[in-house]
Amino acid sequence: MDVELGTTSSGLPALISLEELLATRLLVQGNSGSGKSHLLRRLIEQSAHAVQQVVIDPEGDFANLSQVFGHIVVDAGAQTERGMRLIASRARQMRVSVVVNLEHLDTERQMRHAGAFLNGLFDTDRQYWTPALVVVDEAQLFAPAVAGEVADDARKASLEAMTNLMCRGRKRGLAGIIATQRLAKLAKNVAAEASNFLMGRTFLDIDMVRAADLLGIDRRQAEVFRDLECGRFVGLGPALSRRSVTIRIGDVRTRSNAGGARLMPLPERTPEEARGLLFQATTPPPSPYVPEKGMEIDALLATMEHCQPTVAAPPASEAADPVVPFAPLQMEEVRAQVSPSPEASPGIGIDTILDQLFAERSTLGRPVSSLYDDFLSRCRAHRLPGRALDVTHFRRRLILAQAGVTPTVSALPGWERAIRVADGLEEQFQGIFLHLAAAAIQALPCPTDSTITQAFGSHSPRRAMAALARMQQMGGVEIYEELNGQRVVVLPALQWRTAPGHASDSLARSG
Ligand SMILES: Nc1ncnc2c1ncn2[C@@H]1O[C@H](COP(=O)(O)OP(=O)(O)OP(=O)(O)O)[C@@H](O)[C@H]1O
Ligand SMILES: [Mg+2]
Repeated sequence: MDVELGTTSSGLPALISLEELLATRLLVQGNSGSGKSHLLRRLIEQSAHAVQQVVIDPEGDFANLSQVFGHIVVDAGAQTERGMRLIASRARQMRVSVVVNLEHLDTERQMRHAGAFLNGLFDTDRQYWTPALVVVDEAQLFAPAVAGEVADDARKASLEAMTNLMCRGRKRGLAGIIATQRLAKLAKNVAAEASNFLMGRTFLDIDMVRAADLLGIDRRQAEVFRDLECGRFVGLGPALSRRSVTIRIGDVRTRSNAGGARLMPLPERTPEEARGLLFQATTPPPSPYVPEKGMEIDALLATMEHCQPTVAAPPASEAADPVVPFAPLQMEEVRAQVSPSPEASPGIGIDTILDQLFAERSTLGRPVSSLYDDFLSRCRAHRLPGRALDVTHFRRRLILAQAGVTPTVSALPGWERAIRVADGLEEQFQGIFLHLAAAAIQALPCPTDSTITQAFGSHSPRRAMAALARMQQMGGVEIYEELNGQRVVVLPALQWRTAPGHASDSLARSG
């Protein structure tokens, strides 16, 4: 049976005989870009219906044959060598056409896996010796002329398998079809077993000399290979033509996954942006908070509206506990609300009691009601009217304290925006949000996991990180990782971001 490769220079169909190929094998050579893979694809496509095919594909170029011709793709990266051997012999027994995709392996493992697969094909029982084309692209990788940097046993294993394919494959029905960029890099005994040649554009003298030797032509005659265009090959051999013939390879139905690199204008970016893309977080976050350039409040509210639909409404259980805005809770106002009685201890005010209470680590994880009772009893001890601060306002103060919102932070221009955004969040997220906002407004590094846990009012970093992840899911925060592993948090509603900081305390301390 003949397959049409393309057209000859005289316009006739250029045919290749599959029966002859089985007996006499084919070597394709040409420099990078000469069209070897295209040629192999043409041959595979044209013969797919007639004969079983095995494609050894180091670059993953041929995987898409599966879409049109039903080849099964074997992802070598997911298989052991033993697995490769087994799949090969099953493919042989069932006569399934396969593409062995080796692109996810390093060179040494490519050699070992390809060797194992070829051996599996080779060692199958005699009853399964039916015809199959075994196409090996970039054959110099599997049958290198000289020892390279890979382990000796890997090189030997794949070289032996390639030699077997080319020397002893015929009896078993295996027709070796190998392609190489550099004839001089391909093991001589492997190249010598082919009797059919398709020579494409070749530049290097050393490859030209090897080609002339193989074809048995004068070295000067081989000079024509220099001038061949992409997609044109000089063919010779019993399966092709008894005299050398120039063939223009025909079209293919499937496209190479490799694609050709086309020239296109570079994207427009300032050097600063480009530097950021290379060295900063994976996606460039918005610029840091700059007070002078602060957004107009309307524009800001618009961005908040844009963000907030993703923030879930408080669960029904919390509906009875309406969210009290943070804004009235600026320290001065609370102070004004709570004036001490005449008998109060001198120098001790409600603020001092709150500060002392909130500074104790034992507050973490304690229910607000029990903390409030504690607060009231301390106020009583100092004859202060603690009840002037009701439990709702007490809770707000607790959140601010745990978030590390000091009077200095509250006084910074623009801070009220953070309070407004926090007001729109579920209460459980407010502490973390304000803690991050406080870092961002002061251009401090991103807080560590342990201070975020504190801001969450908990001892459990696991629970705090889960809350942070949930905030991220809802779009309330964006988290980026710098190349050096540092974290940056962006608060999209505010258009603020923290400086990069380590998530773990020990790293943060060591810088
Ligand atoms: N006969 C042809 N007709 C149309 N396009 C072709 C033909 N031969 C090659 N091309 C195109 O030229 C480009 C290079 O071809 P190909 O990838 O086959 O080269 P190659 O020799 O395999 O190169 P490499 O050694 O780098 O893998 C591809 O984009 C391919 O589609
Ligand atoms: Mg190629």
